[in-house]
Amino acid sequence: MILIVGGAGYIGSHVVKELVKEEQVVVLDNLSTGHIEAVDEKVTFIHGDLGNEADLRTLFSEYAFNGVMHFAANSLVGESVSNPQKYYANNIVSTLTLLEVMLDNNVNNFIFSSTAATYGIPKVEIINESVETNPINPYGKSKLMVEQILEDYAAAYGLNYVTLRYFNAAGADETAEIGESHNPETHLIPIVLQHLAGLREQVSIFGNDYDTPDGTCIRDYIHVTDLAKAHIVALQSLIDGKNKTATYNLGNGLGYSVKEVIEICEYVTGLKANVEMTKRRRGDPARLVASSNKIYEELGWKAERNLEQIIQSAWKWHQHPKY
Ligand code: UFG
Repeated sequence: MILIVGGAGYIGSHVVKELVKEEQVVVLDNLSTGHIEAVDEKVTFIHGDLGNEADLRTLFSEYAFNGVMHFAANSLVGESVSNPQKYYANNIVSTLTLLEVMLDNNVNNFIFSSTAATYGIPKVEIINESVETNPINPYGKSKLMVEQILEDYAAAYGLNYVTLRYFNAAGADETAEIGESHNPETHLIPIVLQHLAGLREQVSIFGNDYDTPDGTCIRDYIHVTDLAKAHIVALQSLIDGKNKTATYNLGNGLGYSVKEVIEICEYVTGLKANVEMTKRRRGDPARLVASSNKIYEELGWKAERNLEQIIQSAWKWHQHPKY
């Protein structure tokens, strides 16, 4: 039995959809950003808040969990700069409560969702896990702080964990029963596809004066189902005792510029986007591309879907979003 905190959100719901194929799953979600429609009907759903310690203790007394995956965090870089309190309280304090209740109940296996934002503005072209972390916004800092706390808890209390640093998650489940639906939407691929589906006037490119070949920012996009599968492999490595503590990047290893992403969206949909060039968005690094060799070498996981497949799956969802 696995507890998925934040299993109604974009990434959490895709992990749940894969995990229920082989495990019993309980989802805890306060539905602040998640969608009840996204939760697979085979799971036990609990509408509750991670910050409510009493409810959490009751939950752990009712179920014997083998592990916990934690997706219930706020993740907007811009908002974290204007409202850091929200990010430190939700992303750190609530996680500490969860860890305390886990340890009190002898639940020691933890999968933690971290981010490429922990690297800040990296000095190298391809980022592996030994590249220095230097986050430049409260969101990235809150994630890195939890990573550091996990290290100390592992040493002191025998917590086993895998930290997964996501690059740019995108796409939707192949069935298009679940997909990406944020409010407000800030991510590039859904914005472009919503525009091409007639729901937005235009697409803005945030800056074309970066030090990249076409001047727009380069990112490493990873299909959310590939990401989901990495969580299952990571959890298995803790349950098997193959890993005690580990940190892995999750990306495709290929960088695409904002302009290239828009072009591939146009190619996949057969539609032409109305694009305007605007100034840079605060806090955007020019280039974030992962090496995911470590998780391939240690656990045999690698991304299987390329950017065109990511956009195809996202387009299938965005033409008929269910929520
Ligand atoms: N972009 C545009 N126009 C838009 C939206 C985005 O030009 O309307 C650009 C951004 O400036 C960026 C690229 O498209 O260069 C990708 O932007 P996203 O918002 O889709 O993704 P980010 O790379 O900003 O965010 C991701 C994760 C965050 C994480 C961050 C690390 O979603 O959780 O990487 O930098 F913090």
